[in-house]
Amino acid sequence: MTAAARDAAYFDQWYADMAASPARDAIVARTLGLPPELGFASALPWEGVADITAALRLPSGGLLLDIGCGRGGYGIEVALRTGARLIGMDFSAVALDHASSISARRLPPDRAEFRLGTLTATALPDGAVDGLMCVDAVQFAEPPLAGLREFHRLLRPGGRVALTSWEAASAADPRVSARIHAMNLRRDLPAAGFVDVEVHEMPLWRAAERSLWEAALAAPETDPAVRSLQTEGRRTLESFDALRRVFATATAP
Ligand SMILES: C[S@@+](CC[C@H](N)C(=O)[O-])C[C@H]1O[C@@H](n2cnc3c(N)ncnc32)[C@H](O)[C@@H]1O
Repeated sequence: MTAAARDAAYFDQWYADMAASPARDAIVARTLGLPPELGFASALPWEGVADITAALRLPSGGLLLDIGCGRGGYGIEVALRTGARLIGMDFSAVALDHASSISARRLPPDRAEFRLGTLTATALPDGAVDGLMCVDAVQFAEPPLAGLREFHRLLRPGGRVALTSWEAASAADPRVSARIHAMNLRRDLPAAGFVDVEVHEMPLWRAAERSLWEAALAAPETDPAVRSLQTEGRRTLESFDALRRVFATATAP
């Protein structure tokens, strides 16, 4: 999910295709080490959940926002591990339907809710959340800095943010999409008002991602969701060295 413009209708169809494709979920779960019963839509391996959980330092009973949550699996798991209450937010109603039913099997009903909203307009009050995670979605905010400003507005003083995404390895590489060229978390997190900014390159996450794309290309093309995974895999592997996998954490002062 790193190229071209993507609107809510596009993602609704993407998630509808995914729901009809056990084959797609099996490839992703096997290569990224994810529990198949949780819903995922990105390229973050299971070890990433521990990194996000540690970075957020959520108090038990605190409020976690998983923004761009998709089918919700990562945020549900972080809420389970920390005892936090969860709001999952996305602009795809289809994704949120899936997230609600997955969550109903994992979290008590008073611990989780799923709401429509965008990366730049959540309609939540200032300072409402204790921690905010965004897995492989902040690059869709237009521009990313507008998303980061909204995240900063939502966090209480001392609240933490944890973001996973990609950045260009080189500023002038024509193989990199405009969307990823716009990503510069080391520059934009402080510009949005965050402090304690850390941006780590994650080569092991990137290696897991490579195994995902390779497995997708080796699989039979059984349905639209597998085809979409293969199209993205082909494009990603053609210029694999052009992107850096990044994990960013920061504090709202
Ligand atoms: C690669 S998926 C990641 C989903 C989920 N975080 C996960 O890791 O499984 C990107 C998600 O961002 C959502 N998204 C993209 N642009 C958005 C926007 N402007 N506002 C809200 N959600 C958006 C998509 O609907 C999709 O669920």
